[in-house]
Amino acid sequence: MAERIAVRELLNAEAPIATLDVRGWVRTRRDAREFSFIELNDGSCLKSLQCVVAAECEGYAAIKAATTGASVRIEGDLVPSAGKGQRWELQATRLSIIGACPDGFPLQKKRHSDEYLRTIAHLRSRTNKFGALARIRSRLAWKIHDFFQARGFHYIHTPIITGSDCEGAGDMFRVTTLPLDKVPLREGKVDFDADFFGKEAHLTVSGQLAVETYCLGLGKVYTFGPTFRAENSNTSRHMAEFWMIEPEVAFADLADDMQLAEDMVKALLDFLCADCAEDLEVFASFVDPTLRERIDAVRRAEFTRVSYTDAIAILQTSGETFEYAPAWGADLQSEHERYLTEVHFQGPVFVHDWPKDIKAFYMRLNDDGRTVAAMDLLIPKVGELIGGSQREERLDRLQQRITAMGLNLDDYWWYLDTRRFGTAPHAGFGLGFERFLMFATGVSNIRDVIPFPRTPKHLEF
Ligand code: 4AD
Ligand code: MG
Repeated sequence: MAERIAVRELLNAEAPIATLDVRGWVRTRRDAREFSFIELNDGSCLKSLQCVVAAECEGYAAIKAATTGASVRIEGDLVPSAGKGQRWELQATRLSIIGACPDGFPLQKKRHSDEYLRTIAHLRSRTNKFGALARIRSRLAWKIHDFFQARGFHYIHTPIITGSDCEGAGDMFRVTTLPLDKVPLREGKVDFDADFFGKEAHLTVSGQLAVETYCLGLGKVYTFGPTFRAENSNTSRHMAEFWMIEPEVAFADLADDMQLAEDMVKALLDFLCADCAEDLEVFASFVDPTLRERIDAVRRAEFTRVSYTDAIAILQTSGETFEYAPAWGADLQSEHERYLTEVHFQGPVFVHDWPKDIKAFYMRLNDDGRTVAAMDLLIPKVGELIGGSQREERLDRLQQRITAMGLNLDDYWWYLDTRRFGTAPHAGFGLGFERFLMFATGVSNIRDVIPFPRTPKHLEF
């Protein structure tokens, strides 16, 4: 049996190829009197291969079963196309139906709405848009590894199940094997001694604390994995399960951290334009006409750095009416983020040095005693893309912060050990992969940049 060749390879061929074998899914079929045209897509690239199946071709009797959505095998010869719009076409010598696609196939030729396609997420990879998105996602994931590996970072697999509450915040999914209909109690409370791990367990909200320990041993590390947050926010930018890239660098400060983030964002966008041009065009043409302009602007931009204190002042004197009045000490709302990045600076902006009371315990306390060395990167269309900080490497300050936030020092014994034994300044950040994909494609709902979105009350597939 001849080996299956990817359509992508055939469309890029330099010369005709005799006797080959392609397999894929029929996008469309048009019948003429003496022959049929099949547009065959195998997912290897956006474009389909035009196949000419003549009446004398072996298997032609089954041509009516080659309906939209059916999977087929076509053998034949790659020849220069006589028709317009493509360089090559396949002159079929044999057609075999592999998987028929009867009436009721939900993807017909017409354009379907994103909302509808979300209800058939198990089939949407067969559309141009979601096929292109999946390929871009895959290529960018690869490039993220390449970016860090080329700079001497080591990839650390941090755990998914965690016994510690990383951020010291709520919003975690519980992991348990205790029977929910008969929870074992001791003195009126759940007896976690009887649970699988003999203690409470959760899905991780971030790999940071674990990756920090490896940073203070391997120097430059990153983790790239799924994270889970049980926040009940039904927005177009939040999901309960998303992927995060978290680098961590020893002997680095907040300025180094911001520079790394800027370099990474630009390297990913450069790669996107060079490597994913064909798939990107789907989004530039059909999703967001300003996409290329926006991407190029960020590639060229010098990312602005502005302190949180100055950012609040800018918002307060903007003359803009916000739903939430900007005030020093309060978190930035998304309306504030968008004003800063889209209206005021009109480009990417790092907001740094945040009030300590609204940030996590591990962020390094500044000399003013009221701010921490934290940064958020805001970008047009998306708002917050990255959150990061220089970490508190001084044992006594870290202990004070943990206690002041009402957390239990004993729970962090291993984290504190890293500050006890050979501590060093270090900094890192987390980039939300789906937020990046939203920016990169112009897709405005985060549910459409991941194959199977998990959001409150939605766990289909
Ligand atoms: O700002 P966050 O919460 O930072 C951390 O988790 C740190 N531990 C990272 C670090 O310093 N290593 O999250 C980082 C990024 C956000 O900027 C955002 O892009 C994304 O993760 N993000 C979400 N993406 C989708 N759905 C959600 N619910 C998200 N929450 C955060
Ligand atoms: Mg954040």
